[in-house]
Amino acid sequence: MERKTKIGNIEIGNGVFLAPMEDVCDLPFRIVCKRLGADIVYTEFIAAEGIIRHSRKSKQKMTLTSEERPVSVQIFGENIDSMIESAKIVEDAGADILDINFGCWVKKVVRREAGAAFLKKPDEMAELTRRVQEAVSIPVTVKTRLGWDKKSIDIVRIAKMIEEAGAKALAVHCRTRDMGMTGEADWTWGKKIKEAIDIPFILNGDVNTPEDAKRAFEETNCDAVMIGRAAIGYPFIFQQVKDFLETGEYQESPDIYTRANVCLQHLEMTNKYKGDRGIVAFRKHYSGYFKGFYGASELRSSLMAFKEFDPIKERIDSYIKYLEGNDRLDPISKTRHRAKLSCDDSRYVRKQTVGV
Ligand SMILES: Cc1cc2nc3c(=O)[nH]c(=O)nc-3n(C[C@H](O)[C@H](O)[C@H](O)COP(=O)(O)O)c2cc1C
Repeated sequence: MERKTKIGNIEIGNGVFLAPMEDVCDLPFRIVCKRLGADIVYTEFIAAEGIIRHSRKSKQKMTLTSEERPVSVQIFGENIDSMIESAKIVEDAGADILDINFGCWVKKVVRREAGAAFLKKPDEMAELTRRVQEAVSIPVTVKTRLGWDKKSIDIVRIAKMIEEAGAKALAVHCRTRDMGMTGEADWTWGKKIKEAIDIPFILNGDVNTPEDAKRAFEETNCDAVMIGRAAIGYPFIFQQVKDFLETGEYQESPDIYTRANVCLQHLEMTNKYKGDRGIVAFRKHYSGYFKGFYGASELRSSLMAFKEFDPIKERIDSYIKYLEGNDRLDPISKTRHRAKLSCDDSRYVRKQTVGV
């Protein structure tokens, strides 16, 4: 089965996408993921009503840069008119793709009949998709789940309805709504969805390693994979997946210098973009950036206390000096991943400032 290469007129590349994640996929994180190989990045979901009100938060979430392109802006809401109006605003803001969230499982969204609630009303899901696509000229895509619960999975029929409604791609998180984020994503549905539709199919859920990505393409024939949690604090996953798909090999884990460099560049951008508030929100990334290195949990705990950029940089610098200064704690060989770490790759040269 032939792989699709475009969503509307947007090139898919290797088909490795950053999943939309609330409070994670801000502008700095999207840029970092892009620089490290993500083909298409998504914003976090943005409430249609907030966009229409031109709320400060929505505006910030919709701030886009040329560097991150192509970028998909995700919106959610239950009211067709509001979705159409907000879609037009998103298009004017310069989004390359508009994605509709029909998959959010959290109560506050579902109770408002938005997100995954649409899985119980596929006709309305299709109608909303059709009306939104008619209202804008950028490609409209849909992200949803397998179904409301295991007993009511109807995703193959829904996928066809979404295609008929004019959507230009479909992403499916291969869990049901009632699973939330528990259990395992069931990729067996991926193959069935792919066979049923002619628009690009994006597989999502539990793609955590380059091997997972390759297996997802092989097992389901999907046109792209979408990576969420595995990228938090570890945007290197995109480069790894890309390398693995292109060459069959990848640098298994970047060294401490690369991780610190990327972490600090990411943090610096966050600081510029969001100020001290951004630094507090950044805390979720520390664990991933330093995972597996000797003393990482102490480092992380101490970083949590800081609210400004300079002390964080100083603390990370002193942590690296500590690793360097102690023979027994060589940053490369004394990590939990020591068998995997290597500095041979020119992209990850030790002590070199690596740009993301
Ligand atoms: C912190 C967090 C926030 C999320 N926010 C969104 C969101 O705004 N929109 C959306 O469609 N999915 C959201 N998701 C779901 C992810 O896009 C993705 O479907 C899910 O994490 C499964 O993929 P993964 O196994 O690669 O993490 C979120 C997930 C997480 C962990």
